[in-house]
Amino acid sequence: MANGLIYTNRLNLDHSLALYQRAVAVIPGATQTRSKRPTQYALGAYPIYLDHTQGSHVWDVDGHEYIDYVLACGPILLGYNYPAVSNAIQKQLERGIIYGQLSPLEVEAAEAIVEAVPCAEMVRFFKGGAEANAAAVRIARGYTGREKVASAGYRGWHDQWAIVEEGTRRGIPQGLRDYTLPFQYGDLASLEGLFAQNPGQVAAVILEPATVDGGSAEFLVAVRDLAHAQGALLIYDEVVTGFRLARGGAQAYFNVIPDLAVFAKAVANGMPLAVVAGRREVMALAADLFITLTYGDESLSLAAAVASLSEMRTKDVHGTLWRIGQRLMDGLDAAAEEAGVPLKSRGLAPMSRLALDGEAVAPYGVTPAQVWTFLLQEMARRGVLWRPGGINFVTYSHTEADVDYTVRMAGETFLALREALDKGQLLQRTWAGKQESAFKRW
Ligand SMILES: Cc1ncc(COP(=O)(O)O)c(C=O)c1O
Repeated sequence: MANGLIYTNRLNLDHSLALYQRAVAVIPGATQTRSKRPTQYALGAYPIYLDHTQGSHVWDVDGHEYIDYVLACGPILLGYNYPAVSNAIQKQLERGIIYGQLSPLEVEAAEAIVEAVPCAEMVRFFKGGAEANAAAVRIARGYTGREKVASAGYRGWHDQWAIVEEGTRRGIPQGLRDYTLPFQYGDLASLEGLFAQNPGQVAAVILEPATVDGGSAEFLVAVRDLAHAQGALLIYDEVVTGFRLARGGAQAYFNVIPDLAVFAKAVANGMPLAVVAGRREVMALAADLFITLTYGDESLSLAAAVASLSEMRTKDVHGTLWRIGQRLMDGLDAAAEEAGVPLKSRGLAPMSRLALDGEAVAPYGVTPAQVWTFLLQEMARRGVLWRPGGINFVTYSHTEADVDYTVRMAGETFLALREALDKGQLLQRTWAGKQESAFKRW
């Protein structure tokens, strides 16, 4: 097989599985990220541990090579081990990782973000999306003198956000939940209802400007106007959309500008860096609020951000993400139609989702999770790593050849799915273990 990609009847994952057994004994849940839990993938038929990566490809500890669309759940935007970023990290490593005084890179990275992002006049740095969202909310509370926040979707694991599902609520003080008011993306009436029930109490509306199912400028305009009319700030959680839909994030793509925005995943091409940026008048307050962390000025991540932002400015990164992402969506849709399986691409090309119609497979006596386990198993043994639920990110390093290979393998996989459904043999043909469903984000 070209590129050393695998095509095997059944993957030998002995090394992955041995490591997993050791992990289960010493790491609760075996991973640090819920979305990376092996039980959410096709356990036993999908690699668990990776050894190294390059560009759009990854190699597992059992020696198999794959084209990757998981991409660390979003941070890898330019590609793995991307030369300009890796060189910047190595150069900085020789000077030191973090200092007791300040690094000039803080200023450079902040200026690069101000140059790229429409709402950004001032910037603070953090390490993760959940933490940066918490900081943005504190700034909004400080600025407005109000305490409640209307929020659509996932914000991270911190206390106030775990309001969405029963299973994620344990361990969170009941009282904190009163401060986060959930509403649905696309449902303006639900947001209007929250304002009506909490008059003069909502500090901010926070939402992802687009999800993997897409987004609407019209909705964002309505949310912005409603928030401002009610004296609340508009905050975008651009943890996923930031630097992905455009160099200036979803706010640049939709041209609807928030007061504050939070970035994390793609700003430093995999290095742990998060950002809160926004209007000067609002952000300036952060100097007086108690928002402080040890690692915000860690310089390897800042060097990676400066290098990543420079690549985005000087190369056609976003043209490529849209072109490659669209090629993938179109190819997968054609393959699904040809095989007659109920899968259809949704969303925006750099962050799309191959959506499975659960109602269409129900008559075959199988659940969407079981179908996804089969799809992940079949794609992995053909050398492609997909994510349960069908989220497909792409990088600047994905080539047309990568996408065309993926679409060919998807075509085979979809035919195998069609046959397995028709013969009522999906479960017999799935050797992976039972799949635990993911927590709900959108
Ligand atoms: C929209 C959104 N917000 C916030 C977060 C939390 O970011 P982190 O995991 O870096 O804390 C995520 C993570 O997936 C996310 O998708």
